[in-house]
Amino acid sequence: MEYAWVYILSASSFLFLLCFFKLQRSRKRNLPPSPPSLPIIGHLLLIKEPVHRTLQSLSDRYGLVLSLSLGSRPVVVISSPSVAEECFTRNDIVLANRPRMLFAQIMLYGGTAIGSVSYGPHWRHLRRLTVLEILSPHRLANSLTIRLEEVRLLVKSIYEVAAAAAGLDGFIRVEMRSRLQELSFNIIMRMVSGKRYFGAIVDAGDEDVARRFREVITEFFELSGTNPGDFLPVLRKVVDFKGRERRMVDVAKRSDVILQGMIDELRSRRKRSEGSREVESRTMIDSMLSEGYSDDIIKGHILSILAAGTDTSTVTIEWAMSLLLNHPDVMKKAQAELDNIVGRNRLVDEADIHKLPYLQNIVNEVLRLFPPAPLLVPHESAKDCIVGGFDVPRGTMILVNAWAIQRDPKVWDHPTSFKPERYEGLEGDHAYRLLPFGMGRRSCPGAGLANRVVSLALAALIQCFKWELVGEELVDLSEGMGITMPKREPLEAMCKARDCKIANVLAQL
Ligand code: HEM
Repeated sequence: MEYAWVYILSASSFLFLLCFFKLQRSRKRNLPPSPPSLPIIGHLLLIKEPVHRTLQSLSDRYGLVLSLSLGSRPVVVISSPSVAEECFTRNDIVLANRPRMLFAQIMLYGGTAIGSVSYGPHWRHLRRLTVLEILSPHRLANSLTIRLEEVRLLVKSIYEVAAAAAGLDGFIRVEMRSRLQELSFNIIMRMVSGKRYFGAIVDAGDEDVARRFREVITEFFELSGTNPGDFLPVLRKVVDFKGRERRMVDVAKRSDVILQGMIDELRSRRKRSEGSREVESRTMIDSMLSEGYSDDIIKGHILSILAAGTDTSTVTIEWAMSLLLNHPDVMKKAQAELDNIVGRNRLVDEADIHKLPYLQNIVNEVLRLFPPAPLLVPHESAKDCIVGGFDVPRGTMILVNAWAIQRDPKVWDHPTSFKPERYEGLEGDHAYRLLPFGMGRRSCPGAGLANRVVSLALAALIQCFKWELVGEELVDLSEGMGITMPKREPLEAMCKARDCKIANVLAQL
């Protein structure tokens, strides 16, 4: 009996000392300010959609460097351009890790894919491969035909609808989102595997696989991002929040079968053409096979590139068209620039883009107001560090609120107005104020490709058609839910093929 007391006393003294030292340590630490929180769930209940807006109002109240406990995860939110700069310069390596997320563990081959793997030799290999094999200037020049063909197909699909209404001498209502999704997915999939999987024209014999692939990809996007289990791992063992984890496992299995099919097909084609020159027009899968990457790494890479490079471009073009419809003066100016520089006898080409500064200013302004990754992609600190004068412990998730920085009235005049003219004379002078692609070593390697796709598609749509609102109301610019900040309602607009020679060009597409 006496022994029991001794045990109880020593255990309580041990617990007391542990708590005391923990408290002392956290008192000594100069952590960023934080709102009051609840035990276990911390600040989880404060987080409402759209998350970037919630975090902006919390930062307005508590500070531009803010600390939160989301369940068991410590998080620091940065909403200041100078602190963002510090993160991606002085602290760039320390903050180059990615937090472990459930969806990446389950659907991206144990988190081994480029966007989810932490900083280190494996990430460096994947990054080098991504840049060399699909995003280098040489590769981008090789894939130019793909982009031109896909933009032509986009314009053609709208022209066909518009031409059918031409007899009525009027405008016709078109739905834009599905067409823009088709454009971005087909560009990336043709670079990755050499085939079109989306839209009406699918490569012959692949209709069934294309249908299943589209279904799987839609679910993959729905389930990507954060999950309650990422923040409450203890509960994850007992509750499967809305069956998400089970669905993720199912989607992972189905996508694995389809992607394995793509790899096997290219592998046998390579075998057949060994010794010949056919392999010259290599896809990304070909390059990865010849470098000896395992099938799982290749499959994870395909999904990462799709996840990073498709919806981001789609939503940017959709926001751009929405803003142009609400600002017909800007649309008119962009059309005049195209008429002056490209004329109306041929379709705009990628080589024209750098001669169209107003169009580029429009793209910058769209990415400022509606960045597709408003919180970038979460980073994680590899060790204790100092950010904005505050201590940030190892293992903290870092969210940079690019959306808030890009609308900060201390940094931008009339921050919520759509004014492409604001960039005139400012070439290159907006680092850390305008960071839709992130900064530093984890920044987006696809920025060059994204700019080409978005600018070319937008230029072609403006050059070929007249656009008007569907009714009296302006386009609703509210954000919907999703990792790439989509427009809440898919965009619909009234459109009519422009007269004169452009119509002849279109008729021949
Ligand atoms: C408008 C279009 C796009 C936007 C706004 C965008 C934005 C971003 C952002 C904010 C990040 C994270 C940066 C960070 O962690 O700090 C990122 C990462 C990434 N992006 Fe993009 N992106 C776009 C298009 C593309 C395209 C077309 C591709 C490639 C085909 C691509 C490939 C990637 C990859 C692979 C990563 C992960 C990089 C890493 O973790 O090392 N992105 N992108």
